[in-house]
Amino acid sequence: MFLLTFALLALSFSFVLAVDPCIPTPGGWQDLDDAPSINAAIVSCGARGTIIIPANSIFNIRSPIDFTPCQSCDFQIEGTVQVGHGNWGFWAKKDFFQFKGVKGARVRSVTGTGVVDGNAIEYYTQRFDSGMFEGTNAFFGFTDQSSEIRVENLVVKNVMHRFFRIIGNSTNIHLTNLTLSSVEQWGAYPRNEQDTVGIEIGEASNIDISAIDISFQAAQRTRGPVGVCIAFDRGARSITVRQITCTGAFGGVLVQMASIGWNYGTPSPVAVENIHVSDLDVDASLATGIVTYPAVTTLRNLTWENVYVRNGNPAPVELCWYKSHSFTPWFSTCRESVNMTVREVLFKGYRGKVQETPASGVSWPYTPYNNMTSVELRYEDWVPGTVE
Ligand SMILES: *[C@@H]1O[C@H](CO)[C@@H](O)[C@H](O)[C@H]1NC(C)=O
Ligand SMILES: *[C@@H]1O[C@H](CO)[C@@H](O)[C@H](O)[C@H]1NC(C)=O
Ligand SMILES: *[C@@H]1O[C@H](CO)[C@@H](O)[C@H](O)[C@H]1NC(C)=O
Ligand SMILES: *[C@@H]1O[C@H](CO)[C@@H](O)[C@H](O)[C@H]1NC(C)=O
Ligand SMILES: *[C@@H]1O[C@H](CO)[C@@H](O)[C@H](O)[C@H]1NC(C)=O
Repeated sequence: MFLLTFALLALSFSFVLAVDPCIPTPGGWQDLDDAPSINAAIVSCGARGTIIIPANSIFNIRSPIDFTPCQSCDFQIEGTVQVGHGNWGFWAKKDFFQFKGVKGARVRSVTGTGVVDGNAIEYYTQRFDSGMFEGTNAFFGFTDQSSEIRVENLVVKNVMHRFFRIIGNSTNIHLTNLTLSSVEQWGAYPRNEQDTVGIEIGEASNIDISAIDISFQAAQRTRGPVGVCIAFDRGARSITVRQITCTGAFGGVLVQMASIGWNYGTPSPVAVENIHVSDLDVDASLATGIVTYPAVTTLRNLTWENVYVRNGNPAPVELCWYKSHSFTPWFSTCRESVNMTVREVLFKGYRGKVQETPASGVSWPYTPYNNMTSVELRYEDWVPGTVE
């Protein structure tokens, strides 16, 4: 009898679990962690099912959302998922939405009302005073060969460090129609340069990014540009980026080895290749180009096309960039010893606050680094104009 009851209970329990879509219920307080109920929904409906964060609801998370059970799941955010306040030490080295080896996922708002709020203004204003922690985390972290993932139609704001980070040989990742913004960021140059990154890509391939609006704004008291809109680090390959606006940033869309960390990535003969960026409207100190930490490697086949420059240096290329402004002695020894090849780089169709088309050539317009390094850049169709 007992066994029979148990079996019936188990049966009805699994029946309840199998209901699709799964709609978790929020606890209603920032101090309550809604992650376990969202994670339970992903466990129940993750295999080709649908999970819905309903409209007009607020879910507070105080621990990561684990998408591992998701196989071709559809995760719909129509309400708000926000990070519970005051837990920053806990998050220091953890991603918030974790995609570890996930094959197939769609994260989106169907109705257009979905918001993901990193809630980190409190963190931005405190961290340097308290000297809290080193390192950066991602809100959406794609690792461990995740693949076939689409994120679309969402507003994401005020995350701790990175909105999206794609690493771990992840592939076939599609990000489209997203608004990424942060306000009240620490703006005291140069600490802020790398504090925030919109989309950061390391060892990963076949990434398609389109229709993304990225804006960063420093706090009034510190001012200055903040963060980098899109950074390609070591291992980034086969990437198309189009229709991007980038506002208030230090860096626009840049190749930037060491964005993820000083020793990030497996050394390989070609570090970054096959990147095509087009239709970019950018207001940043460094709009496009290559500003990187040096490595013995090659960067190749990088194109920026149709770029409207509102502000800043349109297309700098400096292989000894990192911390060059704060460590001048390092900069000159770096330039003497850097051993790198940069080729098939094209900056085409630049408008706005730009000069006439620069001359193409090897190592132009910089003095050659040394006899081990070659930098080949091409420039086409630059037309200076007034910026509205
Ligand atoms: C883009 O996303 C917003 C919500 O963030 C939505 O309102 C809008 O309809 C979406 N546009 C397209 C073309 O899907
Ligand atoms: C990615 O793949 C390369 C080449 O197979 C390998 O050397 C590297 O360790 C991998 N990286 C990760 C993080 O899996
Ligand atoms: C250059 O990169 C683009 C964009 O990824 C790719 O379509 C093209 O085939 C690459 N060309 C070469 C010669 O590698
Ligand atoms: C420079 O890098 C090449 C590989 O790209 C390597 O063969 C060469 O030994 C390096 N030179 C020095 C001085 O490190
Ligand atoms: C490169 O320059 C160094 C001095 O800067 C010199 O000792 C070396 O012989 C040069 N190598 C070649 C291949 O020209």
